[in-house]
Amino acid sequence: MTQTWNDLRLDLAAALAEFLEPLEARAETARWFEEGLGRTPAWLAAHGTEAADDDARRRISAWVRRRRTGEPWAYILGWTTFAERRFTVGPGVLIPRPETELTLELALATGHGLGVTRACDIGTGSGILATSLALATRWRIDAVDLSPEALAIARDNARALGATVTFHQGDLLDLLPDPLELVVANLPYVDPADGLGLQVELRFEPALALFAEDRGLALSTRLLAEAFRREARACVLEIGAGQGAELMARAKGYGWRKAEVSRDLAGHDRVLVVQR
Ligand SMILES: C[S@@+](CC[C@H](N)C(=O)[O-])C[C@H]1O[C@@H](n2cnc3c(N)ncnc32)[C@H](O)[C@@H]1O
Repeated sequence: MTQTWNDLRLDLAAALAEFLEPLEARAETARWFEEGLGRTPAWLAAHGTEAADDDARRRISAWVRRRRTGEPWAYILGWTTFAERRFTVGPGVLIPRPETELTLELALATGHGLGVTRACDIGTGSGILATSLALATRWRIDAVDLSPEALAIARDNARALGATVTFHQGDLLDLLPDPLELVVANLPYVDPADGLGLQVELRFEPALALFAEDRGLALSTRLLAEAFRREARACVLEIGAGQGAELMARAKGYGWRKAEVSRDLAGHDRVLVVQR
């Protein structure tokens, strides 16, 4: 019997529901059709009863086999979207999370409020923050990461999107020239003690992008101290749920006068903004 596009969609949803929550399985089915096969809901409404082609069937079977092992969809696809732009991702970088759009929003608001002319993105990963800041402003943008794999992907993303960013391989602020002005960062903030309880997907992402000592606070703390010492005017830091109060207290201890935590849509502490 001929398998139509609608049948293929139902079969995919059933296959994904064997290892994903029902809501996730439905959402991923829609994403796989749209992002993986280029078949939008409008296209399906018009052509859903036509026979699906063999190539689409073969690709879906191969994707299901990989996804069943826990490999995230973005790695299988090779890209994801952030702030409405497409960024290449691969096993060497963290997959951008939607919460990071709040970090971008607050970085832009803070930088514009202070009238800065330069900003740096520390722990740039796939380069989403650096590239988005460069495309939204006339600021000079530097981006830093310890990982050469991440920097290669970040450079390609910036180039593909036409953003001018200067990349550096190094530890936090070490290689950046003064003055720093605005420091933006989404550094690792997961407590290594939570490691074993993590979702299976996280095991595919680099540990260097996820974990920080001192219950996930070590890198954010070190950055707050170094940025103050280097006379940065402000820092916008993505942080973990429940880390706001402690990081705010530490920031004040280093000399930052103003400190404020914003929450994400789920109500979790997500972004710390500090100013002198
Ligand atoms: C949580 S990921 C964030 C990636 C990207 N900024 C984003 O928002 O999707 C953290 C990044 O920080 C980098 N990193 C970890 N320790 C670092 C350090 N000491 N100095 C610079 N980068 C570091 C990791 O390699 C990783 O790419």
